[in-house]
Amino acid sequence: METILNLNNIHKSFGEKRIHQGVNFELHKGESLGLLGGSGTGKSVLLRSIIGLEKIDSGKILFHDKEVQGFTDELNLSKLRLKISYSFQSGALFDSLNVFDNIAYPLFEHTKLSYVEIQVKVAQVLKLIDLEGIENLMPSDLSGGMQKRVGMARAMILDPEIILYDEPTAGLDPANIENVVSLMLKLKERGQSSILVTHDIPAAIRFCDRILILIDRKIYFNGTVEEFTESDDPNILKFAQGQAKEAHHAS
Ligand SMILES: Nc1ncnc2c1ncn2[C@@H]1O[C@H](COP(=O)(O)OP(=O)(O)OP(=O)(O)O)[C@@H](O)[C@H]1O
Ligand SMILES: [Mg+2]
Repeated sequence: METILNLNNIHKSFGEKRIHQGVNFELHKGESLGLLGGSGTGKSVLLRSIIGLEKIDSGKILFHDKEVQGFTDELNLSKLRLKISYSFQSGALFDSLNVFDNIAYPLFEHTKLSYVEIQVKVAQVLKLIDLEGIENLMPSDLSGGMQKRVGMARAMILDPEIILYDEPTAGLDPANIENVVSLMLKLKERGQSSILVTHDIPAAIRFCDRILILIDRKIYFNGTVEEFTESDDPNILKFAQGQAKEAHHAS
């Protein structure tokens, strides 16, 4: 299988605070990785490092054969972010722009498509996320779940090679969780490679091919979903049960 992303011996601290100490993993083409770990273990920092928003202290992040931390200028970074798209934990829509302008933004920024071509693309992607015809609504008109899906539509509109999902189901009711997970599954069926950061164990089990768990600043576990659910390692059991409890309390 073709490796498209390779994290090799990543170290990262904020001042005295050590976050990652020797994180290693690979993402293969078409694969969905689940990245789990307690709150504050550095999952979001890792995703931000992958798109060069955060500078690692040592180690290598390779996208295909290119070293991401070699991408220092804005042009290379913006090219990288066309290929690896980050669907933010918050959804991060522009409040003052309507749905059309929010989704079309990367197309106006990075392509030479005409206005009509952009209208067609936005309509297509809205159909894909089952929100046809909402171009003129403002983010404040949308439910939290709809906002997340519009954020995901923006993340996918340029056909990125990798989508990084940061807690896409957090804070959503069961119906909206279902909408978000089925959208991710739909993209996965079309060959989308992705990394899902989540506390939502059932969503990770449904969506992912492999599960990685960050414990003690390293990838403590890297295995298939089956190996994860059938593990009798007390750390993993405790972890999975603790997370399940956390998710239950949050809902
Ligand atoms: N820019 C920063 N400066 C200093 N510390 C930071 C910075 N960004 C993150 N941290 C710290 O790094 C640690 C890891 O943060 P991160 O947001 O990656 O955690 P997380 O695993 O995503 O947690 P959660 O599950 O709650 O989203 C936290 O202790 C956080 O406070
Ligand atoms: Mg986070």
